[in-house]
Amino acid sequence: MENIEKLKIPRHVAIIMDGNGRWAKQHGKERVEGHLAGAESVERLLEIVSKYGIRYLTLYAFSTENWKRSREEVDALMLLLTEFLRKNLSRLKDNKIRLLVTGRIDGLPEEPRNELEKAIAETSEDYEYTLILALNYGGRAEIADAAKKIAEEVKNEKLDPSVIDETLFSRYLYLPDVPDPDLMIRTSGEFRISNFLLWELSYAEFYITDTYWPDFDAAEFRKAIEAYSARDRRFGGRK
Ligand code: FPP
Repeated sequence: MENIEKLKIPRHVAIIMDGNGRWAKQHGKERVEGHLAGAESVERLLEIVSKYGIRYLTLYAFSTENWKRSREEVDALMLLLTEFLRKNLSRLKDNKIRLLVTGRIDGLPEEPRNELEKAIAETSEDYEYTLILALNYGGRAEIADAAKKIAEEVKNEKLDPSVIDETLFSRYLYLPDVPDPDLMIRTSGEFRISNFLLWELSYAEFYITDTYWPDFDAAEFRKAIEAYSARDRRFGGRK
């Protein structure tokens, strides 16, 4: 971790963890084994991220579109999530990491939902870092849900439509107090946003690597931070 002080460190990193299936195929394994290796990669990353002092990490763990996968794969992902939470709750607490979820948490099966609620409650105080799992998450769903809440308030005469602007709208998103991501990483070489944080990624820098998610290690993460550090962010303005 030498020379970390010379790097510009993003406050919030968001990751599309792609390529578990391809990694499994490359190793002659079942898709589910790829997801298991992916979960191990998440555990490894948690250690790395806090060493860099990155305050917020959002991981795209299950999208609203992922329900279209086979029943077997969906069940395996939910089981993996449940086990991940059981196994890592004490690690989260020891490392002062609070857990948050973005997405329609009510639509998840009872077991992982219970574990999530427990982990969220038990990590909600005395934290320095925030891990956000995007689960049953869709960027369009998030924007539609915000619009619905705003419409309800207008209907109940709690809100005047003339005051709706970008700042007000963003207060109705799932996690209004979390700052927008500065860096979005996507593994396994796909140049797509896949309905991830559509609103929040407006000014994020994108870093795409061919590496499959289970192989995304400390050295790969370092490359992403170095690339970010070298970027010149202008937020639409000029220098
Ligand atoms: C994409 O790989 C990955 C997912 C849809 C799920 C992400 C889940 C994990 C990394 C493991 C569980 C996470 C936690 C937090 C415990 P893919 O299956 O689309 O890969 P492919 O495109 O190569 O088929």
